[in-house]
Amino acid sequence: MITAILLCAISWIATTTTTAQNLTSEGCGSKRSCWFQPGGCETTDIGSCVSSVQWTTESDGVVFEFQATIRDLTNTFNGRWIAIGFSKDDRMGDDSVIECIFKPSGDGNAYLSFNDMTHNRQLLQATTVALAETSGQIVDDRMMCKVKWLYGGREKVFEEDRFKVFDLESRPWTMQIARGEADHYSFSKMIHSTHDGDLFPWVTTSEVHVCRNCSDEKRFQYIKDMKQTDISRYWRYRIATIHGILLMFAWWVLASSAILMARFFKPLWPNTKLFGTAIWFQAHRNCLFVSVIIQVIAVFLIFLQSSFTWYGCTYECNAEAFGFKLHVNLGFSATVAALIQPFLALIRPGPDSNWRPWFNWVHWFLGMGAWLCATITFFLAVQLGKTGLHRNFQQTPYYIMGVYIATFVICSIALEIIASQSTMRTQKIGQHGMELNLLNGPSTEDPGASYPPRASLRPVFLVIHLLVAIAATCWISYMLIYNLEAV
Ligand code: HEM
Ligand code: HEM
Repeated sequence: MITAILLCAISWIATTTTTAQNLTSEGCGSKRSCWFQPGGCETTDIGSCVSSVQWTTESDGVVFEFQATIRDLTNTFNGRWIAIGFSKDDRMGDDSVIECIFKPSGDGNAYLSFNDMTHNRQLLQATTVALAETSGQIVDDRMMCKVKWLYGGREKVFEEDRFKVFDLESRPWTMQIARGEADHYSFSKMIHSTHDGDLFPWVTTSEVHVCRNCSDEKRFQYIKDMKQTDISRYWRYRIATIHGILLMFAWWVLASSAILMARFFKPLWPNTKLFGTAIWFQAHRNCLFVSVIIQVIAVFLIFLQSSFTWYGCTYECNAEAFGFKLHVNLGFSATVAALIQPFLALIRPGPDSNWRPWFNWVHWFLGMGAWLCATITFFLAVQLGKTGLHRNFQQTPYYIMGVYIATFVICSIALEIIASQSTMRTQKIGQHGMELNLLNGPSTEDPGASYPPRASLRPVFLVIHLLVAIAATCWISYMLIYNLEAV
């Protein structure tokens, strides 16, 4: 009996040792396909490779063997996971995944899963029909997983999930490899590291083939080109912070003040001109010009950090993902509307044209619509992971934003009440010949009114608004910068 147990133990050690020694680059590109991370580790010291994938095609499927070190996954209380993904691009999202999850004891199980943007869901039914000959074990500080992906398995996957299990032979793929820890109790995968370093996922920079009936060159590849990310996490977070600060300044400090100036300051200082034209007009035009330039820079930067990916919703489209989608769409619409405004102003009809009221209303509608979209976009930014606003400060950012909106609304109502005591518009043409001299439009005042009532009170409200706008922008900016220390 004892001899039998010993024999079993020896044979187990023999098998596992053989598997551990499997990390070799022999035959790569001639007998099988290989990809080691980081690039070139196998030529210097193969033991220093943090992970690797090797695969061979058989008549009924592809056998993948992938492994990774657990030395830097230090929480021994937790399980661990390693996964390879097949993607149409170099981003996480819309990827078919094969994963192995290991218990703290070292035993591993393989599953299929799907990356829905930055969420991952296991596909249990698909696993039972599309994977075979699976094995997983932690040996010598390495997670090792072996699994056969059956070419014919995809047809048997539930129809509603089939699009998540790619037809691997249909095209070449960007391959991904990621690893992380798994919850001790449920063994569900926890997010991999999102910090720069060895634990961040890797992707191939050229596409890999997983085909049976193709040339040897495609069947046996040796992947040497790879990357982790185009822009490091360090810069991604800094760019997101700059994006937020610039946009708050552009909308709440510059655009809001410009809107108030155009609406309530036309009849003021009728005899003073700034560089040849009315003060309100200079303030309105110049503040918005600077605001639009800042907006374009801020939106360009955020697209740069996302490698110009346009985020839609995830397939599941939960509240968090929907909020992000709204942020992108409303924010982008606000910037586009703001960008259209100066061009519209350039081609505006003359002050006595019949079309002038149309221009006035469209200009007002676009401007206020854009302001509203931008403001909603700010609220939606609070939940975004990269701002850390909700994570670090819970409801406080909402309160700050709320106080600012209330100030803008109260100042607008107060100025509206003051302006309503002024001469209402009676004539069609303003008298100063200045541009955007609003009559027969949304503006309630005749710019030529001889004595604007409570003229000295109006700047007070403008200044109150400006102070609160600057305070709110600085406070939220501080919170965004604080988050950079925390990540
Ligand atoms: C366990 C659940 C997972 C979560 C919650 C998750 C979440 C994330 C997040 C938030 C990022 C973006 C980091 C940033 O922008 O700074 C990211 C990046 C990445 N993930 Fe995942 N991930 C998971 C699993 C996986 C799996 C299974 C794979 C594939 C094997 C994978 C592959 C990648 C890749 C290649 C990147 C870098 C490219 C990019 O930023 O899109 N992830 N992940
Ligand atoms: C009207 C103003 C805004 C516009 C037009 C705008 C526009 C956008 C766009 C288009 C994206 C997505 C880029 C992509 O698809 O890759 C984005 C992402 C983002 N925005 Fe804004 N945004 C605005 C305001 C803000 C504010 C005020 C903050 C911070 C307080 C902020 C924080 C972020 C962050 C952190 C992301 C990146 C999320 C990620 O990649 O995980 N945005 N924004």
